[in-house]
Amino acid sequence: MNVRGWTSYLATCTLLSAALIGCSERPAPLEERIAQPEAEFQATEHYRVPTPTEDLHSFANTDEVRAPHLHLNLNVDFETETLSGYAQYDLEYVKPEADMMVLDSKFITIERAEAWVDEAWVATTFVLGSSDPVLGTPVYVDLPNQTPKIRIHYTTSPEATGLDWVAPEGTAGKEHPFLYSQSQPHYARTWIPIQDTPAQRLTFTAELTTPPHLLGLMGAHNTPNPEITGHYEFESEQPIPSYLMAIAVGNLEFQALDDRMAIYAEPEVIDAAVAEFGYTTDMMVATEQMFGPFEWDRYDQIVLPPSFPMGGMENPQLAFLTPTVIAGDQSLVNLIAHELAHSWSGNLVTNATWRDLWLNEGFTSYVENRIMEAVYGEERAKMERMLDGQSLRSSLETLPEREQVLHLTLEQRDPDTVFTSIPYIKGQQFLFFLEERFGREYFDAFVRGYFEHFSFESLDTESFEVYLTENLLEKYPGVVSVEEVKTWLYEPGLPETATVPVVQAFERVNEIQTVWLAGQSIEALVDVNQWSIHERLYFLNTLPEDLSPEQMARLDREFNLTQTQNNEVLATWLPIAIHNQYEPAMPRVRQMLTSMGRMKFLRPVYQALLETEEGRARAMAIYEEAKPGYHLLTRAGVEAILEQE
Ligand code: BES
Ligand code: ZN
Repeated sequence: MNVRGWTSYLATCTLLSAALIGCSERPAPLEERIAQPEAEFQATEHYRVPTPTEDLHSFANTDEVRAPHLHLNLNVDFETETLSGYAQYDLEYVKPEADMMVLDSKFITIERAEAWVDEAWVATTFVLGSSDPVLGTPVYVDLPNQTPKIRIHYTTSPEATGLDWVAPEGTAGKEHPFLYSQSQPHYARTWIPIQDTPAQRLTFTAELTTPPHLLGLMGAHNTPNPEITGHYEFESEQPIPSYLMAIAVGNLEFQALDDRMAIYAEPEVIDAAVAEFGYTTDMMVATEQMFGPFEWDRYDQIVLPPSFPMGGMENPQLAFLTPTVIAGDQSLVNLIAHELAHSWSGNLVTNATWRDLWLNEGFTSYVENRIMEAVYGEERAKMERMLDGQSLRSSLETLPEREQVLHLTLEQRDPDTVFTSIPYIKGQQFLFFLEERFGREYFDAFVRGYFEHFSFESLDTESFEVYLTENLLEKYPGVVSVEEVKTWLYEPGLPETATVPVVQAFERVNEIQTVWLAGQSIEALVDVNQWSIHERLYFLNTLPEDLSPEQMARLDREFNLTQTQNNEVLATWLPIAIHNQYEPAMPRVRQMLTSMGRMKFLRPVYQALLETEEGRARAMAIYEEAKPGYHLLTRAGVEAILEQE
């Protein structure tokens, strides 16, 4: 459907509605109420059909009818790699005359739809609209007689991008399969027909049937210490946006951290996970003190199989985590702080569209760093900020200008491509800029007020600007100008007002590196075993690109790099090793790429392999071997890298 197609759809609806008010004639058949796409029109990756609301990535007509509550009833079938059952929605008529509801879907087979009429479920018609390669297929459901609820019976496909059906070999225990979802940004529609927009929220209840020996969990209140029965019930009293819908099923154990927090993991990793994430309880106390009460029932965390393409995902009341964060020394737990921070920024106060992603990720990266400071001290927090600042600066060198702004332009773009360091780190630096200008005391009070004011709501960048102006800029005039704020929000690049902390420890690393490069061995200079992961990362990040074979061998020996158990260090070292053709690291390259699917770590390694023809051949061969264990998103991401010239 192109613009004209869409306009005629709206026109048809309006005319019909007008005709319906005041007369009780049956509306025309559903097909006739939906304008068909014009024959020559073909949606492609780069040209997309218009959507009815501000959200460029959802077909949902939430301006006419919305769904404040969902009940899900699903059966989890590992044989066919499908979920099947129904989604039942309570409806709220925004326009009383609305007579159809548009849901988002992708790769879903809908068997039938029902409406609640005269105290009974009756069949109702539904029609699929034309598909868009990114947005999927709109489902138009007829709403007879102002029906208060509808039910959609459906089955997912093994191709559902939002679900990873992990074979037993891909798990820690290697005995049982595992299923987990990844709905952000627009993949909930691959496992639930849903109004898939972050601008709307719903409460939900759910019933899951799983194989009897596996535990099923959802991004909701999970009963502590659950009995493994194969039948599970959930409730999310707090309304959430669709991208936070989450499910996980596996051979899982439960271990409490306190009375509102626990870890779920396979028995093989639960002890290591509890040891690594034990400080989440301190993080929670610190965050509540700084930014106000935790507004959810519980905060549990689950360790997923290594194929999980992200570091973490802030699913409400059940954060999803990669096992690659378990380093043995809590050196990577800023990730834990990050996902916890989303319980305020993102899950409580949500970006209205993916254009406003910085409101989720920038605020979260800011709160994350404040938590790290409160729990692990100022020096570590500053080191993490500075390393992030470095990665922001290097990505600014390659990102096109239109992608360098906080308030993004997303026409015709896949929302999955917006998760760059701009919303995260530029967003974080904007908030640090405000904090430094106004002073922590005043800024923290503002942030607390902001979370409270917008709690369980979605907002866009313009609304944030208005709130900021009224509650900070005008309240304390003369500190920060509207122009300065506008530069941060709407201009590319890093504003002049950006500041980066001075990190004493890194100054020392600089000095040591100069002497090391001149040939002095590291042992003579410093005990590197005393160095934090951050100092190691800084040392590696600031090395010259080209190193001699002798320097490479020394580096590896003195810092024990090829054998490091720290995945952040490994993902920094291997590209250096590949670029400098350091053969002893090559078996580890293969081992790493075939044993995990976290995109952040895989990307730089594959990218480095593509520098030479030989490396490209190696990358292709490794990918073929690794592919069956990768998530569908990881496959797509790696294939995009391998297809580059
Ligand atoms: N919400 C993101 C995960 C995500 C990223 C979903 C991209 C969809 C697309 C999560 O909160 C996140 O940012 N994770 C980071 C953590 C890091 C910044 C500490 C990650 O996965 O690396
Ligand atoms: Zn995040």
